[in-house]
Amino acid sequence: MRKVTAVLFFYFAFISAKAQVTFSENIAPIIYNKCSGCHHSGGIAPLPFTNYTEIKRSAAMITLAALDPKMRFMPPWMPDTTYSHFVDERTLTANEAEQIKKWIADGMLEGNKAAEPELPLFTKGSQLGKPDLTLGMKESFLHKGNNKDEYQVFVLPTNLTEGHNVSAIEIVPGNPKIAHHIILGLDTTQMAEKLDEKTNEYGYEQYGGFGFYPTYDNWSGWVPGNKTRYFPTGIGNYVLPHSKVLLQMHYGPSPIDAKDSTVVNIFYSHEPVTRFLKGWVLSPNDIKDGPFFIEANTKRTFHAQFKVTSDYSLISVTPHAHWLGKKWEVYAVHPNGDTTHLIRINDWDFNWQNFFSFKKFIKLEKGTIIYCNATYDNTERNFRNPNKPLKNVMWGESAKDEMFLFYFAYVPYQQGDENIEIGGSVNFLNVMNDKTSNKTRIEYSIADNSLVTIKLCDDKGKVVKQVINNEQTSSGKHQTEADSKGLKGIYWCKISTASFTDSKKIIIE
Ligand code: HEC
Repeated sequence: MRKVTAVLFFYFAFISAKAQVTFSENIAPIIYNKCSGCHHSGGIAPLPFTNYTEIKRSAAMITLAALDPKMRFMPPWMPDTTYSHFVDERTLTANEAEQIKKWIADGMLEGNKAAEPELPLFTKGSQLGKPDLTLGMKESFLHKGNNKDEYQVFVLPTNLTEGHNVSAIEIVPGNPKIAHHIILGLDTTQMAEKLDEKTNEYGYEQYGGFGFYPTYDNWSGWVPGNKTRYFPTGIGNYVLPHSKVLLQMHYGPSPIDAKDSTVVNIFYSHEPVTRFLKGWVLSPNDIKDGPFFIEANTKRTFHAQFKVTSDYSLISVTPHAHWLGKKWEVYAVHPNGDTTHLIRINDWDFNWQNFFSFKKFIKLEKGTIIYCNATYDNTERNFRNPNKPLKNVMWGESAKDEMFLFYFAYVPYQQGDENIEIGGSVNFLNVMNDKTSNKTRIEYSIADNSLVTIKLCDDKGKVVKQVINNEQTSSGKHQTEADSKGLKGIYWCKISTASFTDSKKIIIE
């Protein structure tokens, strides 16, 4: 018996020595890729997690916020990952959570600092490069420090005399601390100007939409933590001549006066666009058991249906409800009887709405039926209920009214769409040194068009070669070389894009 214990002891000692978790090698890649996008100075979250000291100092809070199954609310992500998957899913995998727990339990060792990946670039301006058209607010807007939400629409004229195909629309919030979410419309009427003229201040106040239906009412948008991407090749959007972009800002409550000056960057397509992004929306008209009315002190589930009229490739979905919204379950039943799960949200939170993009296009054949079930809780048990005392709630744009909108973004289906992959992270595929030519060959893949920086560092962390410096790089697999003449020993190859980072060891003999 004793012998067995001893053997076991050695066995475990061996495993844990081997599997020692250190900040530089194991934890930094997780936190930098999954948390630092919001948790950095100038980001939307209160605490910065951008180096060993900051993260070690917050370990107890991180345990509560991200690891404790009862408390867990970080990273914020609503869709049920046992139902369907999306690009940029903000969740820790079971393995990542285990590693953080083990790191904390083992005393939060820093490890070899040289192994630590660099932070993603967190560029202040555009994450995508040089825009073709930049639209800014005419003057900055003062969001008063009265702890109240504010919804303001600004009209940004494009001054374009001709239309352009667009391959990316990027919104850069002027003040991420107060930007709660942003919706863009595109309009060719004079309606928004008229609404603006009626008010003294810059822009006009409007909860929800724009106060009327513009040419496109869901042209683009921004939510905290969201990453802008180029559309896949051949797919695009369109900016109309003589149009204006309507910028609807939702400013979150702030205890102090804060100024905002948000910018919209538009990137034209440099390759032909064969398919334009289209949208359709499920609204109360599609509800089978309406009307859309939620009596005080009741919970209601509404069932909507929609039949697809030609072959589509579905790109993303965007559910929208206010504070009574609780659950969404949306799936497609194909003509052959198969079901595709689209999205399930078990605890809707108005604060973390998002545009949910699928990792691969989903084919919806003509005749597919979409089922969309949404549950609302107008009781006191819903702690988010804005109506105290309770009241009957109907459709409306105010925070105390409700909405049922489910947006789909799609393009007409084309053969091969099933293979288009969107988004993801950045990874080294292979880093190796060729002794005869004195070259280090670096193979890497990035999932998005992005600015890329690659460095070769020595075992002290000192940069010995700047391989690529903030270069605009297209998505896919790439290969580059660095001169390794005179290098000998352990080195670390480090790559960072606007939102992701990776680090890999290489031994040069
Ligand atoms: C999409 C943005 C975003 C991401 C990604 C994110 N957070 Fe947060 N985090 C926030 C915001 C915003 C807050 C402030 C509280 C709130 O609004 O819920 C916060 C609060 C916290 C807090 C509490 C701090 C306080 O002052 O109350 C901790 C701890 C935390 N986050 C840990 C994490 C960890 C760990 C990760 C990654 C695994 C992560 N967060 C990823 C946005 C984010």
